[in-house]
Formats: sequence, structure tokens, C-alpha cells
Amino acid sequence: ETADKKKRIYEINAEAGRYFYRCLAGEGGKVAYAYLKERGISNATIKKFGLGFAPEGWTGLLQYLTQKGYKEHDIYEAGLAKARDNGTYYDAFYDGRVMFPIINVQGNIIGFGGRIITENSNTGKYLNTPETLVFKKKENLFGLNFAKNDNSGKLLLMEGYMDVISLHQAGIGNAVASLGTAFTPEQARLIKRYANKVVLCYDADQAGRKAAVRAGAILTDEDMKTRVLTITDGKDPDEFIKARGPEMFQILVESAKPLLTFRIDEIKKKYDLEDTEQILEFSEEAATLLADVKNPVEQELYIKRVAQESGLAPDTLAARVKVLQRKQV
Ligand code: UTP
Ligand code: MN
Ligand code: MN
Ligand code: MN
Ligand code: MN
Repeated sequence: ETADKKKRIYEINAEAGRYFYRCLAGEGGKVAYAYLKERGISNATIKKFGLGFAPEGWTGLLQYLTQKGYKEHDIYEAGLAKARDNGTYYDAFYDGRVMFPIINVQGNIIGFGGRIITENSNTGKYLNTPETLVFKKKENLFGLNFAKNDNSGKLLLMEGYMDVISLHQAGIGNAVASLGTAFTPEQARLIKRYANKVVLCYDADQAGRKAAVRAGAILTDEDMKTRVLTITDGKDPDEFIKARGPEMFQILVESAKPLLTFRIDEIKKKYDLEDTEQILEFSEEAATLLADVKNPVEQELYIKRVAQESGLAPDTLAARVKVLQRKQV
């Protein structure tokens, strides 16, 4: 029963994907197509990712799918229609959006992301399919259906659909993104099936750095080797690669910092290490972080580094770390 329902949702999503794809190619899709061109997306990439367009209107997709024999209620359960109180339905994506099919590792479309292409919109920039029987945002990653074939043992985790698409277009095939939510332990375990190293490539803003710290903690809990890349030009990987190209991006990947180095550098930024009081605060905050490090060798190496930066004897800092460590258990 559940298996049948899932199968039907996959079918409806596949048909919807074809509809959106054709809308993008058609007369009504000209503005959306121009938008993608403006953003440097090639026709080959449109095809590879199955990008599409959901035109403005309340029933375009519903009409298309019901004519193919699908029931409105099932379209609703696929997350592609909304229900009104009076029992009628309307398209979930009705305000003119570029559509990004979200495809699981088995190759089924589980849902869609839609990006608004006009500035004056009171709805969010991106809208996703709501949670359905097959669309579990916490358990999937955008682009993994392609990135799973990369054999480097390393995945690049970024924020957005466009980041992933730009990187794949530029020949960097191991980029994935979480689906508009914070990175989850389920996603970490999914990654672990395909790679043992992750490079976090979040946006270059404060929100992106915070998200990197949180995702890093989750990956560390799953024993994944994690590095953090810093975007040096543009707001995100998409903008960087357009400005500087794939070779420069690979250089960023190679120079990504180990998670712990990144976290200590983030703490260090908050303090003036010329000021004795602030050195004290810095070393205390760093010691708290180091007290959490499970691997004793790693812990010792970082104690040495932080001690040097604070002008402390390593033994002094190590003693403080041990005290904090005892408090934690
Ligand atoms: P960003 O705001 O960084 O957008 O959100 P972006 O990916 O750079 O988008 P462009 O370049 O303007 O097109 C990162 C990701 O967060 C989710 C989306 O998955 C997006 O790709 N998001 C963002 C939403 O789900 N809803 C939103 O309103 C905004
Ligand atoms: Mn039902
Ligand atoms: Mn962002
Ligand atoms: Mn962007
Ligand atoms: Mn972004």
C-alpha cells in the first residue's frame, strides 16, 4: 500500500518534471530561460539537472496531470497541489518559478525547489515541496544522485541549488547541498555511505560561518574528516566560480582548513590578542572547545598552537583543558 503510494508519487513527480521542463522551453518560459542564461547556465546543464519553469497560474500543472489520468488528491499528496477549504485544489507552485527537481540516489524525483525570478514577490526566494511520503528534507541531499559517482572519497557540501549546479557545470562533480534546512545527522550518515571526507563550502557571510560550525559538529559526531573552505571572492561558491573559475576553486578546496583550525580562528577573531584580559578570554574559550576533542593527539597539537598564540606555556593551557574536561563528564 505504502509502496504503491510512493510509486505513484514518483510517477506524478516525473510527469510534473516533464511539464516544467517543457514550459521552460516554450513561449511562456522565455523570461525564465533568459534568467538561467543570465546566470550562466548552459542548455546541457538545464538538461542534466532537468531544470524547468512553473508559470504563473493556479491550475496549469493540475490540468496537465489530471488529463494524464492522475487524481487531484494524489497530486496533493505528491506536494504539487494545495487544497482549499471548499475541497478544490490549486498548484503549489503558482507564482512563476524556475524549478529544480530534487532526485534521490535511486534516481527518482522526490520533490522540487522553485526559485522566484521576479524581484517583487512577497513569497520566499525559494519554495520547496512540503514534506511528503517520499520527500524528507532531513534525509536527502541535492546533487547526490550525480556526486555519488565521484570516486574521490570527498564531498563538497554547500548551501544552495545554484552552487551545486554551477560547480557540476564547471566540472566539479562532488558538490551537494542540504535542502534549505540546517544540515542533519541523517544527511551526515547518508554522506558517509559515499565519502569519508567533507569540505564545507558555505556562504561567505556570518550565517554561513555559523552553519559551518554546526554542520561540522554533526559531521564530527559521525567521525567524518571535515574541512572548511573560505570563499574569498563573491558571496557563495556559485559566484566564486563565475568570477574566478574552477581551477581557483580547486585551490580553495586544497587550502580548506581542518574544522578545528577554522573554529579556533573564528574564536580568535573576537579577541584582541595584544590585550592581556582578552588573551585570557580567548584562551578560556579555546580551552572549552579543546576540552571536547576526543583524540588526545589532536588535542595536544591544538593545545600547543593555542598556547603559542596566547603566549602561554603549553602545560598551563593543558592543565586548564583537563579541568574543563573533567567538568564535562
Ligand atoms: P541563499 O540565500 O544562499 O540562496 O540560500 P542562493 O542559493 O545563493 O540562491 P541564489 O543564488 O540567489 O539563487 C541557500 C539555500 O537555502 C535555501 C535554498 O535551498 C537555497 O539554495 N533557501 C533559501 C530556501 O529554502 N528558501 C529561501 O527563501 C532561501
Ligand atoms: Mn489520501
Ligand atoms: Mn546563504
Ligand atoms: Mn547564490
Ligand atoms: Mn548563497
